[in-house]
Amino acid sequence: MGNTASGHLNWPGLIEAYRSYLPVSDSTPVVTLQEGNTPLIPAPAIAKRIGRGVRVLVKYDGLNPTGSFKDRGMTMAISKAKEAGAKAVICASTGNTSASAAAYARRGGMRAFVLIPDGYVALGKLAQALLYGAEVLAIQGNFDQALGIVREMASNYPVTLVNSVNPYRLEGQKTAAFELVDSLGDAPDWLCIPVGNAGNITAYWMGFCQYHQDRKCDRLPVMMGFQAAGASPLVTGEVVTHPETIATAIRIGNPASWEKAIAVQQASQGKFNSVTDAEILEAYRLLASEEGIFCEPASAASVAGLLKVKDQVPTGATVVCVLTGNGLKDPDTAIQHSNNQFKQGIEPTISAVATAMGLNE
Ligand code: F0G
Repeated sequence: MGNTASGHLNWPGLIEAYRSYLPVSDSTPVVTLQEGNTPLIPAPAIAKRIGRGVRVLVKYDGLNPTGSFKDRGMTMAISKAKEAGAKAVICASTGNTSASAAAYARRGGMRAFVLIPDGYVALGKLAQALLYGAEVLAIQGNFDQALGIVREMASNYPVTLVNSVNPYRLEGQKTAAFELVDSLGDAPDWLCIPVGNAGNITAYWMGFCQYHQDRKCDRLPVMMGFQAAGASPLVTGEVVTHPETIATAIRIGNPASWEKAIAVQQASQGKFNSVTDAEILEAYRLLASEEGIFCEPASAASVAGLLKVKDQVPTGATVVCVLTGNGLKDPDTAIQHSNNQFKQGIEPTISAVATAMGLNE
């Protein structure tokens, strides 16, 4: 795949890298921004809080071209839409899907229509969708309602649906599991992952199972899905009509891949758990201030969840937490929930600065 001796200098994007595992042919016009091949970073400060020789790593998918894991699915969905002759795509989104759909659709020469819940999309994501050239329609409703509308639209109008109910999305996203096995030499013991619409947990499991069948890994991970407490239908077993959480990316009350996610949980002997907004914010700050890794709040749910159930982690296990999106997506939450180290209005003198630093006391 064009690698050099020093590694992945010529990483070709995930369709080329994993072509034999993906439903593409020589005539598929590949629309790529060289997504994938994201870092798997050790997280010693988190591991230390668990102890017992547990190894923790984070899959930092916030380093994809538009800053989230959605690019893995979108390179596939948009390439296949282009192959089928689509002129326009549509999606509902809590933000990341809209940014990714916009970037890939525009690069592929298509129009991108995105429906978002008005007032509940993080600033960076909205900025991206607009600048990439999406036609952004903010509805006075939540994600679940937006998804219902775009599903109808796609069956009645000449627009291709690129939410994760489009099977090509999951095909692309499963490559993250391939990358984990390629890096670790086997699947991790546990995979901790934030769950909203439940596409990604489904896609990871597909990837692990395919690699397992191909004998690329000996084991399959226990899949641990984490939802925000105010939007945790897979934990309670009931649709949430008015989902609420600071982690707006996973503010979803009726996941489209509900049954698939339950099947994954059962087959992997995993569990769904919920984490409160306070726990999410604590993990969010911990990741940034002790590991140097800035993810968005929804992504921190995987680490918050791991810490919540840390006593259940087998001794000596290898655990991977998926960090689905970049922290820069949501600057408002970062500024509002930092640790109050921000001192403003300081006089521009050495003594005032020294005093503010606590050096003059
Ligand atoms: N993390 C982030 C940062 C997300 O944006 C999403 C979903 C998830 C986790 C959950 O993934 O839906 O596959 O279970 N975001 C979608 C969007 C809903 O519109 O951007 P999932």
